[in-house]
Amino acid sequence: MLDVWNTPFIVCLLLSLSSSLVATNESQVQFSYSGFGGANLSLDGVAAVRPDGLLQLTNSTDVKGYAFYPTPLHFRKSPNSMVQSFSVSLVFGIQSDFTDVSVDGMTFFVAPSKNFSSAFANHFLGLFNDQTDGNTNNHIFAVELDTFQNSELKDIDNNHVGFDINSLISIEAKSAGFYDNQTDKFKNMTLSSGEPMQLWIDYDSDTMQIKATLAPLNVTSRPVKPLLVSTFNLSSVLMEPSYIGFSGATGPLNTLYYVLGWSFGMNSPAPAINITNLPKLPQGHRKGRSTVLEIVLPIATGFFVLTVGTTIVILLRRQLRYAELREDWEAEFGPHRFSYRDLYEATDGFKNKNLLGTGGFGKVYKGVLPKSKFDVAVKKVSHESRQGMKEFITEVVTIGRLRHRNLVQLLGYCRRKDELILVYDYMENGSLDTYLYSENGKPVLDWTQRFSIIKGIATGLFYLHEKWEKVVIHRDIKASNVLLDSEMNGRLGDFGLARLYDHGTDLQTTHVVGTMGYLAPELLRSGKSSPLTDVFAFGAFLLEVTCGQRPIKHATEDMHFLLVDWVLEHWHRGSLMQTVDGKLQGSYNEEEVNLVLKLALLCLHPLSTARPSMRQVMEYLDGEMPLPDIAPTRLSTSMLSMMQHNGFTSSILSYPDLTTSVGTFSGLSGGR
Ligand SMILES: Nc1ncnc2c1ncn2[C@@H]1O[C@H](COP(=O)(O)OP(=O)(O)OP(=O)(O)O)[C@@H](O)[C@H]1O
Ligand SMILES: *[C@@H]1O[C@H](CO)[C@@H](O)[C@H](O)[C@H]1NC(C)=O
Ligand SMILES: *[C@@H]1O[C@H](CO)[C@@H](O)[C@H](O)[C@H]1NC(C)=O
Ligand SMILES: *[C@@H]1O[C@H](CO)[C@@H](O)[C@H](O)[C@H]1NC(C)=O
Ligand SMILES: *[C@@H]1O[C@H](CO)[C@@H](O)[C@H](O)[C@H]1NC(C)=O
Ligand SMILES: *[C@@H]1O[C@H](CO)[C@@H](O)[C@H](O)[C@H]1NC(C)=O
Ligand SMILES: *[C@@H]1O[C@H](CO)[C@@H](O)[C@H](O)[C@H]1NC(C)=O
Ligand SMILES: *[C@@H]1O[C@H](CO)[C@@H](O)[C@H](O)[C@H]1NC(C)=O
Ligand SMILES: *[C@@H]1O[C@H](CO)[C@@H](O)[C@H](O)[C@H]1NC(C)=O
Ligand SMILES: *[C@@H]1O[C@H](CO)[C@@H](O)[C@H](O)[C@H]1NC(C)=O
Repeated sequence: MLDVWNTPFIVCLLLSLSSSLVATNESQVQFSYSGFGGANLSLDGVAAVRPDGLLQLTNSTDVKGYAFYPTPLHFRKSPNSMVQSFSVSLVFGIQSDFTDVSVDGMTFFVAPSKNFSSAFANHFLGLFNDQTDGNTNNHIFAVELDTFQNSELKDIDNNHVGFDINSLISIEAKSAGFYDNQTDKFKNMTLSSGEPMQLWIDYDSDTMQIKATLAPLNVTSRPVKPLLVSTFNLSSVLMEPSYIGFSGATGPLNTLYYVLGWSFGMNSPAPAINITNLPKLPQGHRKGRSTVLEIVLPIATGFFVLTVGTTIVILLRRQLRYAELREDWEAEFGPHRFSYRDLYEATDGFKNKNLLGTGGFGKVYKGVLPKSKFDVAVKKVSHESRQGMKEFITEVVTIGRLRHRNLVQLLGYCRRKDELILVYDYMENGSLDTYLYSENGKPVLDWTQRFSIIKGIATGLFYLHEKWEKVVIHRDIKASNVLLDSEMNGRLGDFGLARLYDHGTDLQTTHVVGTMGYLAPELLRSGKSSPLTDVFAFGAFLLEVTCGQRPIKHATEDMHFLLVDWVLEHWHRGSLMQTVDGKLQGSYNEEEVNLVLKLALLCLHPLSTARPSMRQVMEYLDGEMPLPDIAPTRLSTSMLSMMQHNGFTSSILSYPDLTTSVGTFSGLSGGR
């Protein structure tokens, strides 16, 4: 780096303006911004420069925002030479609505283009999507400031700095902190503390060493020892030329990512950012409270003395009302635990006017979290047994880490005596079944909407089965567990039921879980769930959505209408299209309907080995693969007789509405 200083091209002109920009020659750009008022950045997504000069990358939940240096930079002196040394310094601040949880993170990146339109927010930090993450064609180097632990991305914790090459699985990462110069001791820092911090990033072209150093802004000079160091040949990654900039991304909770100042030097050290000129971070929600108290407290003191007696009585009562159950082992799940008091306030004391519906496990209420004003669905589940609770909550926490745009996000839980409360993202448009069966005068969904919901649910289920580090079996796929968000995207819900097991280990025998009509024959026989029993239920779901009918109806005491048999019969007779929901009034894409119905029958194959995997289902639905040529005769065995042959007695069929949900829950709480 010292050699670099000696180059004659360095002209560091710090104007009295808040920013300065000196480009001596194309391959030696140098600039420094202290606040971004009047700076020529190009912005994308929700990013904005506020009037006070603060660059704000995100402004709400589930968004991504970008800021780029407007022109691409030449990282090489000539097209075929090595990437030059460069150095970056930035001052940033992260403010979350919650004290101990924030999502998802921000990055400084070097990328070949400014077009991130196909990247996802959430844990992809606005850089990649589930297809592109890890692809060497990305040509992206990024330093992530990550505030959420995603185990599928091998994140070390929820507060780290990492080096990312083409993938959010970092090549090197360290918990946020710095080494004190004098004592050489490591001091922890909390990225989402809402305090401004400075980060330095240096790449040395000779040694190919990448260094990142972090420090609180009030530690005035840069620590000597970097936080993390790694060696990587960036010449093999970066394109010529490349853009530099920032990305910020949020998930279901609102977190604000700010950049206060930024400097950069190509082939030279990044100029020091003038800290005295930096814009101030806005007072966050959490901090706001103390200023309010400062003003109100003196006025309130007299009043307070008067009412102190009453308050004590009220507090004692509240203590009881908000009493929760906490055990030592729960400490490690801290961030996922909501306080009962917040949930009580959110739902207005679990008032009936906020009741969304009642399911097999308990009541679901709509709520608005008091601090963040975030809409949630709060599910109250009663339980008697404390046994197995730890396993269950471990599951809840694991499930809470699952993030996908076709899954209803589980935000956390709260626990009281005899009661478990699950908190989900609120889905504005309610559950799919109410549309299919036109309850409450809901509009009929047209075929395009239905097909897109089908594809969405297939994607969500594929993610559960194959894209995550563990195989997750949903176990209760049906139209009433498909919820529709504000954009009418289908999202798979009700994860309280999902059970996990590691790739490769034996399937576990459990109580039968699920709902009649969606249960695969082998599941009824052995009680063992597998991804293929989910595929079976998905098949039943496909018929439900296409035909607009429930999978089982009982005509008389002993007679059952099985939707699948009825569809099969029509297929035999060559009149498959007659099974399509009459409410569509004949307006649908015949090719797609034909594909969905036949795929449904394939998924509903009595022999599990004949069913496709969700990966194949996706390929069929996307038209990437033609459906295998299945003749109706190969499927001709009546489902009902098949079930009976497999030792499944028709007595169970007398209770087609039976959901074994209750049995399931006791199964969960009773341990394995
Ligand atoms: N995240 C959510 N957002 C909005 N509404 C929801 C949400 N979760 C559930 N609901 C509503 O609450 C009702 C009850 O849901 P719940 O999942 O408990 O029951 P279910 O799916 O009908 O039955 P089961 O418990 O057997 O799966 C549903 O009909 C749905 O409309
Ligand atoms: C920039 O400087 C380098 C030497 O450091 C030189 O090789 C190159 O030609 C210069 N480019 C321009 C556009 O002046
Ligand atoms: C900002 O940068 C772009 C790209 O270099 C340039 O076209 C534009 O003129 C600049 N605008 C200002 C106000 O400097
Ligand atoms: C966030 O920014 C976008 C784009 O500037 C804007 O459309 C949206 O309304 C903003 N959202 C909030 C909650 O301020
Ligand atoms: C950005 O990339 C997407 C594909 O990833 C493409 O469809 C779109 O046209 C591109 N936009 C621009 C402005 O180049
Ligand atoms: C710093 O953080 C690490 C990991 O998060 C933790 O183990 C350690 O106890 C923390 N140290 C202090 C002094 O808080
Ligand atoms: C810097 O600020 C932090 C938190 O505001 C404080 O704990 C610390 O003592 C300060 N350090 C210095 C050197 O002022
Ligand atoms: C650490 O030491 C270096 C070199 O002695 C010095 O430049 C720097 O200001 C010091 N930083 C702190 C935080 O004391
Ligand atoms: C670094 O990568 C470049 C481009 O792939 C290659 O030409 C060069 O030999 C590599 N350097 C080392 C030391 O491996
Ligand atoms: C930083 O800005 C302030 C206010 O404009 C100025 O007084 C001070 O000299 C600047 N410091 C440096 C190191 O340029």
